Amino acid sequence: MLSTDPLWYKDAVFYEIHVKAFADGNGDGIGDFQGLIGKLDYLQWLGVDCIWLLPFYPSPLKDDGYDVADFLQVAEQYGTMDEVRHFLDEAHRRGIRVIVDLVLNHTSDQHTWFQQARSSPQSPKRGFYVWSNNDRTYGKARIIFIDTEKSNWTWDPEAKAFYWHRFFSHQPDLNYDNPEVRQAMLETMAFWLDQGLDGFRCDAVPYLFEREGTICENLPETHTYLKEVRRKIDVAYQGRILLAEANQWPTDVRPYFGDGDEFHMAFHFPLMPRLYMGVQSGNRDPIIDMFTHTPEIPPNCQWCLFLRNHDELTLEMCSGEERDYMYYTYARDPKMRRNIGIARRLAPLLENDRRKIELLNSLVFTLPGSPIIYYGDEIGMGDNVQLKDRDGVRTPMQWTMDRNGGFSNCDPARLYLPVVADPIYGYQSVNVESQKAMPHTLLQWMKQMIKVRKQHPAFGRGTITFLRPANGRVLVYVRRHEDTTLLLVHNLAGSAQPVELDLKEFAGSTPVELLGEARFPRVTERPYVLTLAAYGYYWLNLVPEHPRGEFYGIEQTAL
Ligand code: NOJ
Repeated sequence: MLSTDPLWYKDAVFYEIHVKAFADGNGDGIGDFQGLIGKLDYLQWLGVDCIWLLPFYPSPLKDDGYDVADFLQVAEQYGTMDEVRHFLDEAHRRGIRVIVDLVLNHTSDQHTWFQQARSSPQSPKRGFYVWSNNDRTYGKARIIFIDTEKSNWTWDPEAKAFYWHRFFSHQPDLNYDNPEVRQAMLETMAFWLDQGLDGFRCDAVPYLFEREGTICENLPETHTYLKEVRRKIDVAYQGRILLAEANQWPTDVRPYFGDGDEFHMAFHFPLMPRLYMGVQSGNRDPIIDMFTHTPEIPPNCQWCLFLRNHDELTLEMCSGEERDYMYYTYARDPKMRRNIGIARRLAPLLENDRRKIELLNSLVFTLPGSPIIYYGDEIGMGDNVQLKDRDGVRTPMQWTMDRNGGFSNCDPARLYLPVVADPIYGYQSVNVESQKAMPHTLLQWMKQMIKVRKQHPAFGRGTITFLRPANGRVLVYVRRHEDTTLLLVHNLAGSAQPVELDLKEFAGSTPVELLGEARFPRVTERPYVLTLAAYGYYWLNLVPEHPRGEFYGIEQTAL
């Protein structure tokens, strides 16, 4: 059953899935809703609270479904509307919510709106898109897909005009100055919420409006519209959420939360590369600095923390120097680079070092926000940098060591993309079945961390205070919520490290390690010394001294 708490998203563990990549139910080589339904037990077993589905609408698939040709249908290859509803019922029955991508900013050029719009200046749909007779308008707007696009304008010979697009040239931007567009997208949203969806990951929200002389991002008009979207949800669809994809600096993302009346959640984009920088350099500064620059958000809002997703590991929110460092460290081979970023999965980025994989996951599980796991990263799936665009991180989920990794029983040649088959990350060695069969695999570890996280609302809801012990290789923070105090200690270095903590404030309490429940020596006024293995971490619950000197019914002296 679903939790009834309207703030459920503050404690939730999210899991990102591409329908086509997860499980193929009908054997055509493409994942579908039927296949997905069959894997819900797995997601429930893992402890997932909310699935985020990538676009599954009809599309020419030139941007893997983000080029939507019809907002109100399901692409044939993924299933029918009935199957979507059945999937939602089955997910809800297991206590799992589902949000989907709402691609507000643009459509495919194959959408009937665009087909009609381009056909004549008199078309009633002409005003659905942004046209110009020259390609210099809005010249201050940057180009996002620098690998493929030279301009944000493309000449359409049929329309005899340039049309505006912030992404691929086959993805014309909708014109939000047009009230009909604003209304059509509100109706799209209502349509899907009426099917039972629990909310949306709203794609590319900074770019909805354009204004001359600006960079055409984060404009006040955009916020006004998004607040209207939120009002609609609050009035008719309580408990549903909006998650913003706004790849911006924290100060620019902050307005997307409004006064708690715009988005419920937003991805923390700039934190993500800094987690990688921190572990690579063995230095906590990049991570703490990012939090120093992260403003407070309203109490009913939440950050979404992630390590990887279906796109390149974006380096847009990095300085030139940081970018060079990230490329040098994580993408020396140019084949690994896409746009301003790195198209690789978590395990290969971290050289398949289980200690580093655990460490980074531990950070996203314990820093303020709700974690999102990218499908397959829970088993340490690899990537295929030979594939075009971002396909290398979108290969079939690896379930077993059988044909096609258990993803599909089709002829391997029919798979939508080849399954990873190299000796290290190939499905014969990395798959769910074998990791479920053994107790200490990455998958079992992820399940355990998720379980422990859920036992302590302080992870999702607590405040954060960073401690600054002398050893800068160790990142230490305290999360407080109601009467719980958690102490999180992470060694970012590849060698064992000692750390002396000033825990005077907690003198008398006993740190209890959350995974094994071992009790550590009691905290006193003196420096508290911990030693950590290379890339080691502790999740400690600072259990206060009981007034009668008892601790969990055991005499303190017994400790
Ligand atoms: C953001 C999506 O995450 C990405 O995959 C897509 O290419 C762009 N939006 C453009 O639609």
